Amino acid sequence: MTTSPRRAGRLDRRVAIVTGAARGIGRACALALAAEGADLALIDVAADIPGATYPLGTAAQLRMTGRLCEERGATVLTRHADVRSPDELAAAVGDTLDRLGRVDVLVNNAGLATPAGLPAHGLDEDQWRLMVDVDLTGAWRVMRLVVPHMLDRGAGSVVNVASTAGVVGYPHFANYTAAKHGLVGLTRAAALDYATSGVRVNALCPGSVRDEPELEGRMLGGIADALGIPADRQEQVFVDGQPTRRLVSAHDVANACIWLASDESRGVTGGVITVDGGYSAR
Ligand SMILES: NC(=O)c1ccc[n+]([C@@H]2O[C@H](COP(=O)([O-])OP(=O)(O)OC[C@H]3O[C@@H](n4cnc5c(N)ncnc54)[C@H](O)[C@@H]3O)[C@@H](O)[C@H]2O)c1
Repeated sequence: MTTSPRRAGRLDRRVAIVTGAARGIGRACALALAAEGADLALIDVAADIPGATYPLGTAAQLRMTGRLCEERGATVLTRHADVRSPDELAAAVGDTLDRLGRVDVLVNNAGLATPAGLPAHGLDEDQWRLMVDVDLTGAWRVMRLVVPHMLDRGAGSVVNVASTAGVVGYPHFANYTAAKHGLVGLTRAAALDYATSGVRVNALCPGSVRDEPELEGRMLGGIADALGIPADRQEQVFVDGQPTRRLVSAHDVANACIWLASDESRGVTGGVITVDGGYSAR
């Protein structure tokens, strides 16, 4: 943990947890939160998981996210935890409260999109369970640990990173689509549970996001690998499917995350905010 000089921003003196922070959208959200003045607990499994069809974030990538956030003035804690493990998460959240004192914002971003290319009936038990365990139950597990603390303080913002697959169907992604629809359902129900308490819960639904080199994101490349087609061809398929004919950037997603995390969105709970270039509008 390193302390640097503070600066004023929309999240000044707030503390945020970001899961899946080693790279991609998680890194983009972490950098934006740091730039707005938040201190950060960055959590990632930082290891490969059996059943995932592409390499996940690494310890070095998580350290890099931490370093980049510190350069923006944030106090940063990095922790390795698998969102499938209640014990690892309890240790990480406990360390966050001990070292950073509070949690104002939770960005539940850790997620997998694997495997791809199979119809619903072609998935086996393990393929189904993995996606639900990480993409849906993982977010609920972190909420279970963090929300009681937010309720005690009467304030907090939970941002669940779902997907357009949380609002429309994607062929050959039944397990991912079901898990992300479930995450949208969890978001809506929890928002009602906490509506009078000052704790807000919203879902952020990106469309297909470019794998940007400086963020080291791997999801689109991973999907292309699983489908056995070149990444640029897969990217073109997604571009052709966008009304705007361009893919969303992880920084576009991070901008929406900042708005949901900050008091600017205080009138919003149970929201399902798409950042998808109009994909789900049709
Ligand atoms: N990239 C896209 O096109 C896209 C579109 C819509 C939604 N999303 C969602 O955004 C989130 C981030 O995706 P991304 O594109 O940055 O992917 P990514 O694979 O680049 O990054 C995901 C991060 O989550 C971590 N992670 C995976 N499983 C974990 C686990 N069990 N415990 C802890 N950490 C774990 C990985 O190590 C990795 O660092 C995911 O929830 C994804 O479903 C992505």
